[in-house]
Amino acid sequence: HGELGQRIDYVFKVVLIGDSAVGKSQLLARFARNEFSLDSKATIGVEFQTRSLQIDARTVKAQIWDTAGQERYRAVTSAYYRGAVGAMLVYDITKRQSFDHVARWLEELRGHADKNIVIMLIGNKSDLGTLRVVPTEDAKEFAERENLFFMETSALEATNVENAFMSVLTEIY
Ligand code: GTP
Ligand code: MG
Repeated sequence: HGELGQRIDYVFKVVLIGDSAVGKSQLLARFARNEFSLDSKATIGVEFQTRSLQIDARTVKAQIWDTAGQERYRAVTSAYYRGAVGAMLVYDITKRQSFDHVARWLEELRGHADKNIVIMLIGNKSDLGTLRVVPTEDAKEFAERENLFFMETSALEATNVENAFMSVLTEIY
Protein backbone atom coordinates (compact mmCIF):
# COMPACT_ATOMS: atom_id res chain seq x y z
CA HIS A 1 0.00 0.00 0.00
CA GLY A 2 1.16 3.53 -0.82
CA GLU A 3 1.38 6.82 1.05
CA LEU A 4 -2.32 7.53 0.58
CA GLY A 5 -3.28 4.00 1.44
CA GLN A 6 -3.99 3.07 -2.14
CA ARG A 7 -3.10 -0.37 -3.39
CA ILE A 8 0.24 -0.59 -5.23
CA ASP A 9 0.21 -3.09 -8.07
CA TYR A 10 3.83 -2.73 -9.16
CA VAL A 11 7.06 -1.16 -7.91
CA PHE A 12 9.50 -0.28 -10.67
CA LYS A 13 13.08 0.65 -9.86
CA VAL A 14 14.62 3.09 -12.32
CA VAL A 15 18.22 4.32 -12.06
CA LEU A 16 19.69 7.64 -13.17
CA ILE A 17 23.25 7.62 -14.51
CA GLY A 18 25.53 9.99 -16.39
CA ASP A 19 28.34 12.46 -15.76
CA SER A 20 28.32 14.93 -12.89
CA ALA A 21 26.29 18.13 -13.39
CA VAL A 22 24.24 16.90 -16.36
CA GLY A 23 21.07 17.38 -14.28
CA LYS A 24 20.16 13.91 -12.98
CA SER A 25 19.08 15.15 -9.55
CA GLN A 26 17.06 18.01 -10.99
CA LEU A 27 15.31 15.70 -13.46
CA LEU A 28 14.35 13.58 -10.46
CA ALA A 29 13.23 16.62 -8.44
CA ARG A 30 11.10 17.74 -11.39
CA PHE A 31 9.53 14.33 -11.89
CA ALA A 32 8.98 13.42 -8.24
CA ARG A 33 8.01 16.82 -6.74
CA ASN A 34 7.72 19.23 -9.67
CA GLU A 35 10.61 21.21 -8.21
CA PHE A 36 13.81 22.63 -9.68
CA SER A 37 16.83 24.33 -8.17
CA LEU A 38 19.59 26.21 -9.98
CA ASP A 39 22.05 25.79 -7.10
CA SER A 40 21.75 22.02 -6.91
CA LYS A 41 24.62 20.37 -4.99
CA ALA A 42 26.54 17.38 -6.31
CA THR A 43 25.01 14.15 -5.08
CA ILE A 44 27.03 12.13 -2.60
CA GLY A 45 26.29 8.42 -2.31
CA VAL A 46 22.80 7.40 -3.32
CA GLU A 47 19.34 8.89 -2.89
CA PHE A 48 15.95 7.86 -4.13
CA GLN A 49 12.47 9.27 -4.47
CA THR A 50 9.21 7.69 -5.34
CA ARG A 51 6.11 8.74 -7.18
CA SER A 52 2.96 6.69 -7.58
CA LEU A 53 1.04 6.95 -10.81
CA GLN A 54 -1.61 5.21 -12.85
CA ILE A 55 -0.81 3.16 -15.91
CA ASP A 56 -3.95 1.65 -17.43
CA ALA A 57 -6.00 0.80 -14.36
CA ARG A 58 -2.96 -0.11 -12.25
CA THR A 59 -1.06 1.85 -9.62
CA VAL A 60 2.64 1.85 -10.32
CA LYS A 61 5.13 3.10 -7.78
CA ALA A 62 8.19 4.46 -9.54
CA GLN A 63 11.23 4.25 -7.29
CA ILE A 64 13.86 6.45 -8.93
CA TRP A 65 17.47 6.07 -7.75
CA ASP A 66 20.02 8.83 -8.12
CA THR A 67 23.76 8.67 -7.53
CA ALA A 68 26.81 10.83 -8.07
CA GLY A 69 28.31 11.23 -11.51
CA GLN A 70 31.66 11.81 -9.82
CA GLU A 71 33.51 8.54 -9.31
CA ARG A 72 34.66 9.32 -5.76
CA TYR A 73 31.10 9.97 -4.53
CA ARG A 74 29.44 7.02 -6.23
CA ALA A 75 27.46 4.29 -4.55
CA VAL A 76 28.44 0.63 -4.76
CA THR A 77 27.86 -0.12 -8.42
CA SER A 78 26.35 -3.60 -8.22
CA ALA A 79 23.91 -2.61 -5.46
CA TYR A 80 22.83 0.45 -7.39
CA TYR A 81 21.83 -1.53 -10.48
CA ARG A 82 20.35 -4.51 -8.65
CA GLY A 83 16.69 -4.98 -9.48
CA ALA A 84 16.53 -1.98 -11.83
CA VAL A 85 14.04 -2.40 -14.67
CA GLY A 86 14.65 1.03 -16.21
CA ALA A 87 17.55 3.44 -16.66
CA MET A 88 17.84 7.08 -17.66
CA LEU A 89 21.29 7.74 -19.13
CA VAL A 90 21.70 11.50 -19.04
CA TYR A 91 24.12 13.84 -20.82
CA ASP A 92 24.14 17.64 -21.14
CA ILE A 93 23.56 18.99 -24.67
CA THR A 94 26.00 21.84 -23.87
CA LYS A 95 28.87 19.53 -22.70
CA ARG A 96 30.47 17.41 -25.39
CA GLN A 97 32.36 15.33 -22.85
CA SER A 98 29.17 14.25 -21.13
CA PHE A 99 27.95 12.83 -24.47
CA ASP A 100 31.32 11.23 -25.27
CA HIS A 101 31.09 9.37 -21.93
CA VAL A 102 27.67 7.89 -22.71
CA ALA A 103 29.26 4.78 -24.26
CA ARG A 104 31.16 4.16 -21.04
CA TRP A 105 28.04 4.52 -18.90
CA LEU A 106 26.24 2.15 -21.21
CA GLU A 107 29.01 -0.41 -20.84
CA GLU A 108 28.77 -0.24 -17.05
CA LEU A 109 25.00 -0.45 -17.21
CA ARG A 110 25.06 -3.48 -19.50
CA GLY A 111 27.68 -5.12 -17.32
CA HIS A 112 25.62 -4.81 -14.14
CA ALA A 113 21.93 -4.54 -14.98
CA ASP A 114 19.37 -7.08 -16.12
CA LYS A 115 19.58 -7.64 -19.87
CA ASN A 116 15.93 -6.64 -20.36
CA ILE A 117 16.34 -3.24 -18.71
CA VAL A 118 14.61 -0.39 -20.58
CA ILE A 119 17.09 2.39 -21.33
CA MET A 120 16.32 6.00 -22.22
CA LEU A 121 19.12 8.26 -23.44
CA ILE A 122 18.40 11.82 -22.30
CA GLY A 123 19.95 15.01 -23.65
CA ASN A 124 19.16 17.44 -20.82
CA LYS A 125 19.24 21.28 -20.67
CA SER A 126 17.38 21.77 -23.95
CA ASP A 127 16.53 25.27 -22.67
CA LEU A 128 20.18 26.21 -23.35
CA GLY A 129 19.80 25.89 -27.11
CA THR A 130 22.23 28.72 -27.90
CA LEU A 131 25.00 26.81 -26.07
CA ARG A 132 24.28 23.47 -27.72
CA VAL A 133 27.31 21.44 -28.83
CA VAL A 134 25.70 18.00 -29.22
CA PRO A 135 23.44 17.88 -32.31
CA THR A 136 20.15 16.09 -31.78
CA GLU A 137 20.89 13.95 -34.86
CA ASP A 138 24.14 12.56 -33.35
CA ALA A 139 22.35 11.41 -30.23
CA LYS A 140 19.43 10.02 -32.19
CA GLU A 141 21.79 7.96 -34.36
CA PHE A 142 23.68 6.68 -31.32
CA ALA A 143 20.42 5.71 -29.64
CA GLU A 144 19.17 3.86 -32.71
CA ARG A 145 22.45 1.99 -33.07
CA GLU A 146 22.41 0.97 -29.41
CA ASN A 147 18.68 0.27 -29.22
CA LEU A 148 17.91 2.99 -26.70
CA PHE A 149 14.95 5.30 -26.45
CA PHE A 150 15.94 8.94 -26.81
CA MET A 151 14.56 12.31 -25.75
CA GLU A 152 15.83 15.82 -25.10
CA THR A 153 14.58 17.37 -21.88
CA SER A 154 14.79 20.47 -19.75
CA ALA A 155 14.44 19.97 -16.01
CA LEU A 156 14.43 23.77 -15.72
CA GLU A 157 11.51 24.36 -18.09
CA ALA A 158 9.88 21.00 -17.33
CA THR A 159 10.07 20.04 -21.01
CA ASN A 160 9.68 16.33 -21.76
CA VAL A 161 10.52 15.27 -18.20
CA GLU A 162 7.14 13.70 -17.54
CA ASN A 163 7.22 12.30 -21.06
CA ALA A 164 10.64 10.67 -20.64
CA PHE A 165 9.85 8.98 -17.32
CA MET A 166 6.36 7.94 -18.44
CA SER A 167 7.75 6.42 -21.64
CA VAL A 168 10.19 4.28 -19.68
CA LEU A 169 7.60 3.25 -17.08
CA THR A 170 5.01 2.40 -19.71
CA GLU A 171 7.57 0.38 -21.66
CA ILE A 172 8.52 -1.55 -18.51
CA TYR A 173 4.86 -2.18 -17.81
P1 GTP B 1 25.92 14.94 -9.75
O1 GTP B 1 25.03 14.77 -8.57
O2 GTP B 1 27.23 15.57 -9.38
O3 GTP B 1 26.14 13.66 -10.52
O4 GTP B 1 25.20 15.99 -10.78
P2 GTP B 1 23.72 15.90 -11.38
O5 GTP B 1 23.75 15.19 -12.69
O6 GTP B 1 22.77 15.38 -10.36
O7 GTP B 1 23.40 17.44 -11.70
P3 GTP B 1 22.34 18.41 -10.95
O8 GTP B 1 20.95 17.88 -11.10
O9 GTP B 1 22.79 18.64 -9.57
O10 GTP B 1 22.46 19.73 -11.84
C1 GTP B 1 23.71 20.37 -12.08
C2 GTP B 1 23.48 21.82 -12.47
O11 GTP B 1 22.76 21.91 -13.70
C3 GTP B 1 22.66 22.59 -11.43
O12 GTP B 1 23.13 23.92 -11.39
C4 GTP B 1 21.27 22.57 -12.03
O13 GTP B 1 20.46 23.64 -11.62
C5 GTP B 1 21.57 22.65 -13.52
N1 GTP B 1 20.52 22.05 -14.36
C6 GTP B 1 19.94 20.84 -14.22
N2 GTP B 1 19.02 20.63 -15.16
C7 GTP B 1 19.01 21.74 -15.94
C8 GTP B 1 18.26 22.13 -17.09
O14 GTP B 1 17.41 21.44 -17.63
N3 GTP B 1 18.56 23.37 -17.62
C9 GTP B 1 19.50 24.20 -17.07
N4 GTP B 1 19.71 25.38 -17.66
N5 GTP B 1 20.21 23.85 -15.98
C10 GTP B 1 19.97 22.64 -15.43
MG1 MG C 1 23.04 14.67 -8.47
